[in-house]
Amino acid sequence: MSTNSDKIKQLIALREKAKLGGGQKRIDGQHKKGKLTARERIDLLLDEGSFEEFDMFVTHRCHNFGLENETYYGDGVVTGYGTIDGRLVYVFSQDFTVFGGSLSESFASKICKVMDAAMKNGAPCIGINDSGGARIQEAVNALSGYTEIFQRNILASGVIPQISVISGPCAGGAVYSPALTDFILMNKGISYMFVTGPKVVKTVTGEDVTQEQLGGASIHSTKSGVAHFVSETEEEGLQMVRKLISFVPSNNLEEAPLVACTDAIDRLEDTLNEIIPDNPNKPYNVLDVIHAIVDDGEFLESQRAYAQNIVTGFARFNGMSVGIIANQPKYLAGVLDIKASCKAARFVRFCDAFNIPILTLVDVPGFLPGTAQEYGGIINHGAKLLFAYGEATVPKVTVILRKAYGGAYCVMSSKHLRGDINYSWPTGEIAVMGASGAVEVLMAKDLATIEDAEARAKKQFEYEEDYREKFANPYQAAKYGYIDDVIEPRNTRFRVIRAFQSLTTKKVTNPPKKHSNIPL
Ligand code: HXC
Repeated sequence: MSTNSDKIKQLIALREKAKLGGGQKRIDGQHKKGKLTARERIDLLLDEGSFEEFDMFVTHRCHNFGLENETYYGDGVVTGYGTIDGRLVYVFSQDFTVFGGSLSESFASKICKVMDAAMKNGAPCIGINDSGGARIQEAVNALSGYTEIFQRNILASGVIPQISVISGPCAGGAVYSPALTDFILMNKGISYMFVTGPKVVKTVTGEDVTQEQLGGASIHSTKSGVAHFVSETEEEGLQMVRKLISFVPSNNLEEAPLVACTDAIDRLEDTLNEIIPDNPNKPYNVLDVIHAIVDDGEFLESQRAYAQNIVTGFARFNGMSVGIIANQPKYLAGVLDIKASCKAARFVRFCDAFNIPILTLVDVPGFLPGTAQEYGGIINHGAKLLFAYGEATVPKVTVILRKAYGGAYCVMSSKHLRGDINYSWPTGEIAVMGASGAVEVLMAKDLATIEDAEARAKKQFEYEEDYREKFANPYQAAKYGYIDDVIEPRNTRFRVIRAFQSLTTKKVTNPPKKHSNIPL
């Protein structure tokens, strides 16, 4: 009969075995591929020594294709909870050393268990993905496992922050769990995501593509917009997740943590008085404005390389986490197009769902014209952003830096979409359209009567100047109270901080409904 001491020794031995996952040889293989193991990733993600593991001794229950002879403790996924900067988070980390991290019924149950616990306790759930997809031997049980996870992702959406890290393959239906979460981070060089792999693509469409070209980190961060963050290394990626967590609350009933602020609230930024070029068609970098006004110049940009005509990300004002949406004049003149509208709409909705106030910096010449945009459904996609802003009940502060033309003026958190405090710099131009477009519409007949081309151009220029004088300023809007004040650019930081401070007790609710019907 074994003694109690033997039993403890057995436990320790079993734990050591479980920690080896698919065995040392496969761990070495993982390292050779330049990848960390599931456990190494968790260690880097969480506060040191904070990880508490669940279900270490779970094994699969499948007997197909000889699986009954090959079992591993943990069954290919490490799950549990720990802390990030002392705050509770739940985590699952797929272990490629066990059947290629493929998902079995037991594997899925382990993930569902941590997702349920995250929901019950109101804490973020972070999933690290490195998997060959559905465990082929488990057939429909693997599919049901995925779908159970999807269902939980859907119910958790808007309740707890969900973050996906892609650190290896993520293919087929497996991509849809990350896609249902709030943010996706991909590691350069080792991760890829696609619904159908290169071989199927070749068979169906005849295209020759590599995994990297089809679904690598650079593709998803520039072309598809699927990835919100990209890291050069796994270590850097996991640090980014820690940073992201610092900006968000643990759940939708809480506020994001307030961080002690050492940056002076009333810091004046003289450079901002000079930043807008006198020539209205000249660009500048809106990131310079953002860095100048936020606490310590720190800005965590989301989808940095995608739809660069709009900037989205998190920063702090006097320690308060704020989501920033800003048109970027440096890229496509800051125009709103399909991609920019979708990118910004999703970001606005994340902030609103999680009580993160929104700052909107406006310099937008309008929506992008053309058949490509119209055929692509800019009507629907632009409406998403309009809808997202109009639906949002978090504190909304807007600063018009320069152009705010037409529908884009309305959309970009205007007063009329329940913008709480709307400022403009003196360089603001709030009008139905730009001067040249307006003159072409209003004065076309008049200009057509002038035969001499030079005289016609001169007259057109005069009309445009007149239009600019009348409309290319913020005072028309201020006259009607659509702008609460025209502020000196150098004062923007403290005016924004005061605005948000005045809104900390804001309470607005939307009419009761099952859910809205946002144009998709
Ligand atoms: C069972 C799997 C597996 C899987 C890999 N393995 N994928 N076992 N089910 N899906 C096993 C391998 O047999 C191997 O076992 C080990 O994991 C490592 O795999 P390798 O192929 O040696 O690794 P690598 O060369 O790095 O290639 C990785 C890979 C490849 C590209 C992911 O393994 C692969 O193509 N796997 C199949 C992918 C796939 O088609 N999955 C189904 C997708 S459909 P040993 O014992 O040799 O170490 C899907 C539907 C989901 O997921 C639907 C949800 C609604």
